[in-house]
Amino acid sequence: MNAALRSVVRSANYHGIECVGFYRGYQGIIENDFKPLEMRSVSNILELGGTVLRTARSLDFHKSEVREKAYHNLKSQNIDALVVIGGNGSITGANVFAKQFDFPCVGIPASIDNDIYGTDCSIGFQTALQTIVESVDKIRDTARSHNRLFFVEVMGRDNGNLALYSAIASGACFVIIPEKEFEITNLAERLKTGKSMSKSSSIVIVAEGNNYGPSYKIAEDLTEVFDEYESKVTILGHLQRGGSPVVMDRLIASRLGLFAVQALMSENYGNMVGIIKNETVLIPMQDVVDKQKTINENLYMLNKIISR
Ligand code: F6P
Repeated sequence: MNAALRSVVRSANYHGIECVGFYRGYQGIIENDFKPLEMRSVSNILELGGTVLRTARSLDFHKSEVREKAYHNLKSQNIDALVVIGGNGSITGANVFAKQFDFPCVGIPASIDNDIYGTDCSIGFQTALQTIVESVDKIRDTARSHNRLFFVEVMGRDNGNLALYSAIASGACFVIIPEKEFEITNLAERLKTGKSMSKSSSIVIVAEGNNYGPSYKIAEDLTEVFDEYESKVTILGHLQRGGSPVVMDRLIASRLGLFAVQALMSENYGNMVGIIKNETVLIPMQDVVDKQKTINENLYMLNKIISR
């Protein structure tokens, strides 16, 4: 997100537009907590994880009267437009706010889950994937040496993209995601087949939002039908949400930042910027809110075919 912020500020500056940054997202607007941002305010943040403006899941912003206060704060500071960087919750907030006050807003998709409709990739996804795959590579050393089965639980509240992409890139033999029904017997079958083909250890990637249950329950239930491996569970948790952004995230964020400023300058309000097939695109925020990002079935099939 810092790379996106830097790009927005510098692109605006290039076009002679002044910027301020609100701390903790919508909460900062509600509390009039902001600071002016110029060229040098965003120096040396490109390589930092998280966001220097900090963030919050603002429940207050769900209330119409609180949004009214936010609107008056913006007006009193002569702020003409908002660039909102965040996930589905943030884009939904921007959409509601833009419509309620006819206020110029543009959204930039940022979520490690890559669960935002209208863009191939949201900011943070690539970095989180890198962390997951590097972690699984390390876990595999124990799995291989001890002939163990590892369940590695990754983030993804409602969406299995982190799990699916990392399963392919780390060579996991099975992936459990919210978009697919899961039965313990399917996993047992897959592991049995692996064993019969001389597989001595296995990795299963579990999306936290899967519809069966937590990894510990999956591991426990599995032993009832298949107990030829000693199994272990690792939950990667917030490790996945931090760290210096990888190259692709810095590139995506930089491109989207400039494009968001251009969208505001050309009065293309009410849109989210995204990247589809490597081209920057505008998507109405209403579509982002109404539609759901689906998983790529080809990738799901790919994992089934090659990870045995
Ligand atoms: O929305 C992104 C996400 O990373 C989810 O995958 C995860 O469940 C959640 O955030 C964790 O959020 P928090 O840090 O607020 O618990």
